[in-house]
Amino acid sequence: MTLPRVDRVLLGITGGIAAYKTGELTRQLIAQGCEVEVVMTAAAREFITPVTLQSLSGRPVWHDLWDPRVDNNMAHIELSRDKGLVLIAPATADFIAKLAHGLCDDLLSTLCLARECPLAVVPAMNRQMWDHPATQRNVARLIDDGVEVWGPAAGDQACGETGMGRMLEPAQIAERVARSFAPKSLNGLRVLITAGPTFERIDAVRAITNLSSGKMGYAIARAAWEAGADVTLVSGPTTLTPPPVARVAQVSSAQEMLATVNAFVPDADIFVSVAAVADYHVLNPSDQKIKKDAHILTLELAPNPDILASVSALADPPFCVGFAAESENLDEFAEDKRRRKQLPLLAANLVQTAFGSDDNELVLFDDAGRHRLPRASKLVQARLLIEHIAKLYHPR
Ligand code: PMT
Repeated sequence: MTLPRVDRVLLGITGGIAAYKTGELTRQLIAQGCEVEVVMTAAAREFITPVTLQSLSGRPVWHDLWDPRVDNNMAHIELSRDKGLVLIAPATADFIAKLAHGLCDDLLSTLCLARECPLAVVPAMNRQMWDHPATQRNVARLIDDGVEVWGPAAGDQACGETGMGRMLEPAQIAERVARSFAPKSLNGLRVLITAGPTFERIDAVRAITNLSSGKMGYAIARAAWEAGADVTLVSGPTTLTPPPVARVAQVSSAQEMLATVNAFVPDADIFVSVAAVADYHVLNPSDQKIKKDAHILTLELAPNPDILASVSALADPPFCVGFAAESENLDEFAEDKRRRKQLPLLAANLVQTAFGSDDNELVLFDDAGRHRLPRASKLVQARLLIEHIAKLYHPR
């Protein structure tokens, strides 16, 4: 029997005000299936108590290099040996300087030097401290040494100034942690994804659109990024925050989506067409708001281009994955769509449960037949779909 994979993270907390967010970070990491063990510097304990982190992580919290609770008195070795990642969040300018120079005068800095697993640091400091040439030199040296540096972000700072140096938010750190543990089944491949609805203007304030929220397409973009792909996400209008993929192009109409896809498709190895593209657009949209009167209003609609069909018909197309949203006869309609659009893979879902929801139940159709994915969150479904794509793509 294969045991489920456990992502074990050693979370190192250093002394910056952003340390107050590490309780939420710990909670989110555990919610996504990680085991978290916390090590704090003396300064970190000025900002947040070990008891808080012990309660949230469900494990003892460490800070003393000489802690007798570790059998052989070698906490700096033992604590990192069963971990897949050492994550320092927040990482102060001082701690980054120590890491860059290999200093080890406390438990956290010593275990960073003694570790075998990857190390990621999430800087958090005042903007002047971040911009200082000494910090920039130290960060460059860490990157040279193979350390991952996540962020910082720009924005308002606790000191009242505004600029670069904010720690990434817990959710952004948690998604990078998920990526660092994910199998890199699409490493180096360029994946182009469409997501969300399109928006076909009627007049200055009205449009034809649909109920796609973008959740499925954004989840696939995130799963492809986790799998090591260089991802371009072409998105219709949504309220979602995009995952940290290489490129995000926001578009509105089907015509704009087609033009943007055409610009990126020559560089794509894989194209996943998740967008719910409107089948028609209004022939003569009005620039002004159409006035209401007592008469019937007739709109002339013309068919939109089929973006997926035009990509799969290219002389040298990328590996094309289509979607089908059906309200009945799922298998029959989906397989028919796959054949007509000449797709190696198509993911079908029911309109009634797929649009706007957090969960989905995809059925995949390929040359080998039909594969039903278990009902799960759209992110879990996306990860399973990406694994399926990787298996079909790699024999090529
Ligand atoms: O965004 P969510 O709320 O998370 O919902 C997800 C979803 C239901 C939108 C998604 O899972 C989905 O099923 N997307 C495809 C919806 C759709 O438009 O299906 P279709 O059967 O009409 O189109 C078939 C395929 O052709 C799709 O890959 C579509 O992207 C593509 N197409 C369709 C029309 C068109 N003019 N151009 C296209 O590229």
